Amino acid sequence: MNIKDTIESVRKQFRTDSDPFPDDNDKIDSLKIKYLGRKGLIANLFTQMNQVEAEDRPLFGKYLNQLKNEINSVFDSSQQKDSDSKTDQIDYSLPGLNFNIGYQHPLQTTLNEIKSIFQNLGFSVAYGPEVDDDFHNFSALNFPPEHPARDMQDTFFIEKDIVLRTHTSNVQVHLMKEKEPPLRYIVPGRVYRNESISFKSYCLFHQIEGLYVDKNVSFADHKGILEYFVKQMFGAKTKMRFRPSFFPFTEPSAEVDIWSEKRGQWLEILGSGMVDPEVFKSVDIDPDVWHGYAFGLGIERICMLKYDIDDIRLLYQGDLRFLEQF
Ligand code: DAH
Repeated sequence: MNIKDTIESVRKQFRTDSDPFPDDNDKIDSLKIKYLGRKGLIANLFTQMNQVEAEDRPLFGKYLNQLKNEINSVFDSSQQKDSDSKTDQIDYSLPGLNFNIGYQHPLQTTLNEIKSIFQNLGFSVAYGPEVDDDFHNFSALNFPPEHPARDMQDTFFIEKDIVLRTHTSNVQVHLMKEKEPPLRYIVPGRVYRNESISFKSYCLFHQIEGLYVDKNVSFADHKGILEYFVKQMFGAKTKMRFRPSFFPFTEPSAEVDIWSEKRGQWLEILGSGMVDPEVFKSVDIDPDVWHGYAFGLGIERICMLKYDIDDIRLLYQGDLRFLEQF
């Protein structure tokens, strides 16, 4: 057999040996050693080159190199396939990345809900200052000079006549002084009181004030709107009652309670009443022409009732274990 036939027979032998190509590494290695190893069949063919006539050597060298390259490329492409299939191996059971999503604070949720109920009734939203003077926070609202809220014990004073507002009712005065009636506003905001901190009171909290001023406004209108609000907020079957009360800036005044089945008791949710003519006078609105009603609700209180939260301090601590529940 001449060397050319020998080259051909090695090629055939390799094709048989490598089809199918082995799928385990040991078998691949031994196949590689058999053909490309130092003492392998290709190396052996190279040693036979000296038996070839000198003039034929370049041609046979070329055949032999072709075979060698051919065999090499079979091993190379099998290696390529192997690494491709490794990158294809995605472990679908790996847990995904955990993106931390935020939570809306329950006070914000409550505020948004209250706002949208009144906005649907045609109320606009207004805001006012948290640091205000005695006139807007107290005297225009008909607080007598000796009223306990004017005491350092109950109110944070910035200066003699400047306070951190104790309620959002101060914005009633701003609105009535700055705008012409009719007025129909709700005013959300933060208020401050010098109270000792406990499960039921905090030194700051949030209120929503309501103010409605127009001609021919009656207490019945006032009751109607608050009833609507309560049923929207707490459900159509909620039991509620108006209880006579007193505020310096409303006459008559009432507080609204709702019945808590769970606690078996009435719980107060807001203060309200018809705007006192004295208040109209202090903001230069003619009480013989204009009438109105006002109300003030505590957002914390409503939030705590709605979500069954029993300690007001939880609303301010930013504890994720609490907030994640909403
Ligand atoms: N300002 C009162 C408070 O903080 C709440 C209030 C009661 C507001 C009656 C009103 C109202 O507008 O008419 O306790």
